[in-house]
Amino acid sequence: MKILEPVQVGNMELKNRVIMAPLTRCRADNPGRVPTDLMAEYYRQRAGAGLIISEATVVSPKGIGYVNTPGLYSDEQAEGWKKVTTAVHGAGGRIFAQLWHVGSISHPDFHEGELPHSASDVDPKIPIKTPLGRKYSVAPKPMTEEDINQTISDFKNAAVRAIKSGFDGIEIHSSNGYLFHQFFSRITNLRSDKYGGTVENRTRFYFQALDAIHSVLSSEQIGTRLNPMYHGRAGITLDQESLPTFEYIVNRLNAYNLAYLHLSRPFFPVDSPLLIDNVPAHFRQIYKGHLMVNGEYDKDSGEAELLAGNADSVCYGRPFIGNPDLPERIRNGISWVEANTATFYSQGAEGYTTYPAATS
Ligand SMILES: Cc1cc2nc3c(=O)[nH]c(=O)nc-3n(C[C@H](O)[C@H](O)[C@H](O)COP(=O)(O)O)c2cc1C
Repeated sequence: MKILEPVQVGNMELKNRVIMAPLTRCRADNPGRVPTDLMAEYYRQRAGAGLIISEATVVSPKGIGYVNTPGLYSDEQAEGWKKVTTAVHGAGGRIFAQLWHVGSISHPDFHEGELPHSASDVDPKIPIKTPLGRKYSVAPKPMTEEDINQTISDFKNAAVRAIKSGFDGIEIHSSNGYLFHQFFSRITNLRSDKYGGTVENRTRFYFQALDAIHSVLSSEQIGTRLNPMYHGRAGITLDQESLPTFEYIVNRLNAYNLAYLHLSRPFFPVDSPLLIDNVPAHFRQIYKGHLMVNGEYDKDSGEAELLAGNADSVCYGRPFIGNPDLPERIRNGISWVEANTATFYSQGAEGYTTYPAATS
């Protein structure tokens, strides 16, 4: 099967094209948001993936919007991640860190009463689980140019820390309605300065962050994630500008020679006449580099996407939760376990490191 064949990504040869998607699991349950030994074990179990992309990892305290998610803004966190990357490399795997800022998907409870940051003061109107209980989101503070510059350096510093922690590279989390996506969308970006209005302006912050990261990492150590058809959650909906905006971004990314572009197709129902149904095929026509695709793939549909020439690798999220040895299950035709959603974001080993490998 093509999905089990090796593939070159940046300067790495991946042993297969079965990629583990970034999955927030909320197990960094300590005040410093430091990766734990349990997390190292979880990732080690999944080292058979061609590449693991870590759970979303915040670049600064201001980037936080969930309980118990890890960071990469302190030396203590970097030490914790070292245990993870050592465990994955020891088991023959590769791992990138997904770098994250949630923007408005947060609450003042995470920020000592201060407002979360975003492009504009558009309240995503969603419930947020804060350390003090379940609350409703608020209208965020529109970022000043100083806030934007600070956040760009936070991404750059986190990228440097990621490499020092032993990661093979980083993925910019520019999808799923978080900070960069809030700048891309005309629904959440109402700015009239150089960061709002035209597509060049709405993507300026993202490309500045990418350039800053590129000034300290090689292009082969950088990936980025986009979800062009994201619709109906966290205040972002598809509009006439969405598709042209993502076409513009993907086209411009060609100049960077990145390790990969990671593209999600919708993984929850999208009710919009603006939905295009074949996201990988559409963007394959634009993007020249390694294209990784994600979103509700199984073994056969993943293989079919590769054979159709629409992608170079396939990224699996939920299947990797219940099936730590997913590539081996594909190889041996073993059925997949459906993971228990009740333990996706809970604490402890149950539903985290307790799923056995079917193969050894
Ligand atoms: C429990 C859970 C946590 C997730 N955490 C992240 C995350 O940290 N970063 C991210 O970009 N996407 C995250 N996602 C989205 C997944 O990476 C993936 O895009 C989605 O699950 C669709 O792929 P799948 O159908 O193979 O599961 C998460 C999804 C789930 C179910």
